[in-house]
Amino acid sequence: MHAYTVQPARTLRGEITVPGDKSISHRSIMLGSIARGETVVRGFLRGEDNIATLNAFRAMGVAVADDGETLRIQGKGLHGLEEPTDILDCGNSGTSMRLMTGLLAGQRFFSVLTGDQYLRKRPMKRVLEPLSRMGATIYGRAGGDKAPLAIVGTGLAGTEYSSRVASAQVKSALMLAGLYADGATTVHEPHLSRDHSERMFRYFGAAIEAGGTTVTVRGGSELSGREILVPGDISSAAFFIVAALIVPGAELLIRGVGVNPTRTGIIDILTAMGGSIELVDQREVSGEPVADLLVRHSRLKGIEIGGDVVPRAIDEFPVISVAAALAEGRTVLRDARELRVKETDRIAAMATNLRRAGVTVTETEDGMELDGVGQLQGCAAESFGDHRIAMSMLIAGLAAAGDVTVDDAECIATSFPTFLPLLETVAER
Ligand code: S3P
Repeated sequence: MHAYTVQPARTLRGEITVPGDKSISHRSIMLGSIARGETVVRGFLRGEDNIATLNAFRAMGVAVADDGETLRIQGKGLHGLEEPTDILDCGNSGTSMRLMTGLLAGQRFFSVLTGDQYLRKRPMKRVLEPLSRMGATIYGRAGGDKAPLAIVGTGLAGTEYSSRVASAQVKSALMLAGLYADGATTVHEPHLSRDHSERMFRYFGAAIEAGGTTVTVRGGSELSGREILVPGDISSAAFFIVAALIVPGAELLIRGVGVNPTRTGIIDILTAMGGSIELVDQREVSGEPVADLLVRHSRLKGIEIGGDVVPRAIDEFPVISVAAALAEGRTVLRDARELRVKETDRIAAMATNLRRAGVTVTETEDGMELDGVGQLQGCAAESFGDHRIAMSMLIAGLAAAGDVTVDDAECIATSFPTFLPLLETVAER
């Protein structure tokens, strides 16, 4: 565990790219592995979470050649995965664990998934419960809610399931299981969560229907290997978007960012707060919308956030709370209970850290309320082992009156291993 200290920046300038999208990178390995033929992935995110997924599929007999830039996955077809000879370690990655649970439920073999101390605390019943309705046999600690999970692969039957939470992980787990089930598997969600699985299933030629908040997958539909160019992760760009908005005189151009509408809640929220974020050169790459983002320092004001936009910005609330802390007036976040079961309880974590930086924060059960301050104080912040908490507080440090130290910066490698050097490249002091 090593600490990192960021000093206040005079301004920020530059043109950057951020690493590939984490969600799309996970899915490219999973679908590439069960497709027929070769899948070529460029722009793959080499964060620890995605490497966990890559290692798991290699352990199931999938050949993946990696020249440092491009991954070439030799797909084994729907029924070609092999029983792993050891436990599959998902590290910190909820996406690896939940999506693979769905995929593994319908295999003809036994597998066990585990993760780090944080992942082993996160709820898994949200996938086990609907999968068991499909006939899956999965065991876990805490009555089947916590990893390690033991999966006894078996025949599955399609189902129609209405999820209580808007969760792309739940939806995608069922879609992957649905490929192995007899008949159709339909998932309804209360609000639309990220739709990368729907797009990639279609891109690989799977039989799927998606519209509104419902998706249906037909069992047995074969996938064909494809070429994928992974766009920059808007959840990683988010830290630099907020940095550019809160540091006086800043201007950043962030190239090649994925702007899938199910992920652009951060742009909508920060724009509503008065932020200047321009989408330049919008295009489509491998079935996903992409743009360059031009972001300029702006005077922000507090707003009320809730409803449909919440799942569209779910990973960005830690850094949005930093923007809110420097906005004029009060920001109220509601309908964000899911933040309590992320890599850590992100409501409690940001409330603790922002208080140390001099902000008055009230935690609510499903969000927070805070009043913006003119200037953040330097402080000692805690990551709670969560990459996005660590990065959010380092961004806060750029606009603080003194240094901000985060106790553990190692966890940043789960999603954004190049974050610290990139930050120092654009910060002028
Ligand atoms: C993800 C879905 C989201 C998100 C996570 C990645 C995915 O989780 O928080 O970082 O790739 O499907 P939920 O689906 O649990 O909201």
